[in-house]
Amino acid sequence: MASWGTISCAAAAATVLLLMLRGIDPAASAPVSIDPINCLDSGLKCCPPPSSKEIVDFKPDSQPSPLRIRRPAHTLDSEAAQKYEKAIALMRALPQDHRWNFIQQSNVHCAYCSRGHVQLGTKNHTIEIHGSWHFFTWHRAYLYFYERILGKLINDASFAIPFWNWDDLAGMSIPTIYRDNTSSLFNPTRFPAALNFTDLGGCQGDGTPGSLDKQKLCNLQVMHRQFAAASNSTSIFFGGALRAGGSFPGGGPIENSPHSPVHISTGADMSQISKSGYDPLFIAHHSNVDRLWAIWEGIPGDSSKVIADPDFLDASFLFWDENLERVRIRVRDVIDHRKLGYVYQDVPLKWMDIKTKVEGETSIRTAQDLARQYPVGKLNFPLRLRSAAKVNVRRTASRGEKLVVSDIELDGRDYVWFDVYVSRGDGGGRAQAGCFIHMERRSDKKIPIITKTQIGIADVIKQIGAATDDWIVVTLQPKVGGDKAKEHNIVFQALYNSTQPVQAIVCEVEGFGDPWLFLEKALCRRDDSTCSLLRKSDLGTRCE
Ligand code: C2O
Repeated sequence: MASWGTISCAAAAATVLLLMLRGIDPAASAPVSIDPINCLDSGLKCCPPPSSKEIVDFKPDSQPSPLRIRRPAHTLDSEAAQKYEKAIALMRALPQDHRWNFIQQSNVHCAYCSRGHVQLGTKNHTIEIHGSWHFFTWHRAYLYFYERILGKLINDASFAIPFWNWDDLAGMSIPTIYRDNTSSLFNPTRFPAALNFTDLGGCQGDGTPGSLDKQKLCNLQVMHRQFAAASNSTSIFFGGALRAGGSFPGGGPIENSPHSPVHISTGADMSQISKSGYDPLFIAHHSNVDRLWAIWEGIPGDSSKVIADPDFLDASFLFWDENLERVRIRVRDVIDHRKLGYVYQDVPLKWMDIKTKVEGETSIRTAQDLARQYPVGKLNFPLRLRSAAKVNVRRTASRGEKLVVSDIELDGRDYVWFDVYVSRGDGGGRAQAGCFIHMERRSDKKIPIITKTQIGIADVIKQIGAATDDWIVVTLQPKVGGDKAKEHNIVFQALYNSTQPVQAIVCEVEGFGDPWLFLEKALCRRDDSTCSLLRKSDLGTRCE
């Protein structure tokens, strides 16, 4: 245990050193912004053509324009579908180097997530818009410009992109309008199985009669679970704080799932972050992700639904708009989607009130049961997640609990997925609380990542009948996701055998009182929000 603390502190020191080498003062936090000139070509060729055009700051429409109403892709009428198809066809027909060209537009996404755009004030530290609090915000801005460009191409100021309503029973497969192989909306790399079913997170079936219904129910449960994991915490919902010089502080529950499994289960292009924009489904997929943000915002909660931190609100990104202006847009500009001139059509949310799936007994408790609460084996950290790992975690909080699986170390090129279960210490009820999913990235060089996943567990604790327990058991269950498990088996094997280890992991329940449960020794974290939970005395003795 103590040695893990030492490793952690050494790594923290190394992080600080790296930041200093890059020319960023770690003490002075700052919002991320993009170097308008430097974009690195990591072999993917997705950097935009250079430009000396002046950058203008984003301003919302000065004139009122018609409200754009984004509708479910599977319910579009044929007129709307034809318009959309035409707009994408026109985008594809533009000259290759045109800023609105379909591939150029797809590459906008790629350059923001495949070690392309360099962060301002650094020599070569690139931005990554996944795995942090900028996941929702960057994609909202991207879709905003994309939608307006499409509207411009067909001369329709009310044009709205559709959303792929995969959280609805009728939307859990590739929508019909995307299926015709002569359409501009087609992509040839999709998986045949995706015509039948879209997986939101570990809901693949066995093809037997009745299986599809079960899979769809499983999807609804995933939706419910992942929302519950985020609903009472703004910082959990958005994901970890990405400040200037940082990368991969950890994505929120929705980014992990359903977002990633939808990519992974849809097709070869969609499964790879850098190429996913080549499939027109990407836009509809992210339109739905963006809609979930809007839905989450509407759920009443204890705290503000916006992160007030200026490093969040003042982060900025560059795009080309529908007037071929080069625009700098800040996160604060995208917080309110109504101000951006669009809304989502209301559709019923079947998953909102669905029951969590609990295995095992949740009600019968005997003195004998309780006596068996503690015996789960001790783990030594770091550990490689080759097989399920069980950890005893002591609870001290009664509300607002979160589980943090931190210091997950991996090679960012690899596809990694493990599920997180919570169960009662007496071997009673058990339920999945969340998961960690990292999507594949192409690169010749290793992409070292140390990240974390945070899961709100208040709801699941209640469901398993552990509300009054002092201890819970957390299980980390490594898995391969999707119908294409075989394709990725080699990567997976390598990950969980030896060459590409996933090194984990400390589990803690943060709440009132001792934040360093499970471990006897205090640890120093890279992330300042966690570090501030350390007692001063711990900092003095452990983290010099
Ligand atoms: Cu930017 Cu769904 O990926």
